[in-house]
Amino acid sequence: MATRNAAPTSERSAAIDALHAATALYTSIPVVEALLDRMGWPDGDGRLLDPSAGDGSFLVSALRRIPTPAGDLDALVRVQGWEMHPEAVEQSRERIVDLLVSRGWNEDEARRGAAAVAHEGDFLTADPQGTFRFVAGNPPYLRWGHLPPLLKETWSPVLPDFARGDLLHAFLDRSVAIMPENGVVGLVTSDRWLFNATTTGLRRTIGLKAGISHLARLDAATSFHQPKTRRKNSAPRVHPVEVVLRPLGADVLRLCGRPISPDGAFDEAHEGPLLADVATVKLAPWLGPKGIFLLDTEQAQALPDADLLPAVDSDDIDPGTDVLGPPTRFAIRTSRDAEPVGAVREHLLSSRERMPKRGRLGRWWMPPEAITLPLDRPALLVPRIGKRIRAVRLPAGVLPVNHNLYVVAGQAGRSLDEIEAILLSDATQAWVARNAPRLEDGYLDIRAGLIRRIPVA
Ligand SMILES: C[S@@+](CC[C@H](N)C(=O)[O-])C[C@H]1O[C@@H](n2cnc3c(N)ncnc32)[C@H](O)[C@@H]1O
Repeated sequence: MATRNAAPTSERSAAIDALHAATALYTSIPVVEALLDRMGWPDGDGRLLDPSAGDGSFLVSALRRIPTPAGDLDALVRVQGWEMHPEAVEQSRERIVDLLVSRGWNEDEARRGAAAVAHEGDFLTADPQGTFRFVAGNPPYLRWGHLPPLLKETWSPVLPDFARGDLLHAFLDRSVAIMPENGVVGLVTSDRWLFNATTTGLRRTIGLKAGISHLARLDAATSFHQPKTRRKNSAPRVHPVEVVLRPLGADVLRLCGRPISPDGAFDEAHEGPLLADVATVKLAPWLGPKGIFLLDTEQAQALPDADLLPAVDSDDIDPGTDVLGPPTRFAIRTSRDAEPVGAVREHLLSSRERMPKRGRLGRWWMPPEAITLPLDRPALLVPRIGKRIRAVRLPAGVLPVNHNLYVVAGQAGRSLDEIEAILLSDATQAWVARNAPRLEDGYLDIRAGLIRRIPVA
């Protein structure tokens, strides 16, 4: 049987190409930055390792946070990356060179520096020298059965059985194995290892040394991008989470083999109600492009017979005070059972061609998403995207649109004032900062499901 070292170079290159093609799913910068924040990188003098560095996003973001005086190669030993695919290594080195040159390094030294940071090698068999207080990254996810045979041969002898179901398991096991007493491991992973029965042994082994100090779902649609060299295909079919592991003794959730739910892991201590128990949370409808069902004042005045509702979007909110301005838009309300006549009919038929295909699903006089919000009482509008939760007062009869969130008091007897106070409390803001998926520039993806899960003190 061919051994790893005896394998012809071309065979090994082909295996690494296949591995990279199957696993290269690069992490978006907001996710990288948020994970480094959660891990507390940088500390005074600890070192950081990305075990599967890809094109270097973690390496560049980590370097950006520490001083790297021009020409000081020693300063760079604090950040180190391993990556098997030569082209990806080259790309990460280029990005590091760009950073260093922008910080005043000359190009030759920057190239030497980049080569000393981004190593071409196999994390599972290499022996990164020295202690790494921080291990950060997004390891490859690939089932053992799908590995190129040559790599199975390479890794079979070095991986314990419990870490062999998926390449991710091997990375988790090894990252924790090299974690020092004060270490922190922060990884983007798919969620399955947290609860599958087949990973009980992995959880148990990791749990002997570390526990979970942070766990939250990430949005698969916005957390990743694929290398330009990879064939375009649909959004990744993983359910990603960000997880931070710290040594036992720190304030951590213990791992003992039992399944951990990414949705409930840190809610367990909360035994009281959730927001869904005291309020109704709904998504405001999308009515299609402006000028069809959603009109400005002038267009609305031209349709005196229409059943018009004042409508608001997040741009009607004063960013300083979170107070809603007077509505400047109006929504045409139609009924499924009554085909409009007269000017409303003419308007809807003549503007219909501007409705995109995804909005033309039912009767021509109905908007793409029906207006079903109660609107009979005051409510709160919570913008879907923001750096924090904002709760804006909506008078009765005013329709929020465009997938803002609509919150009204539920059956539990809590007033709208109380619900507003819960939403705006420091505890809720901290909970949302921990649990909402991150978008670009510090913005959070605030969905109805997230709002419903907010713990009520
Ligand atoms: C999911 S990507 C993540 C890249 C980068 N850390 C990021 O988050 O943008 C995983 C990378 O791991 C690399 N890889 C796979 N097995 C590896 C191994 N044994 N050692 C080092 N890198 C490996 C793949 O080539 C791929 O580029």
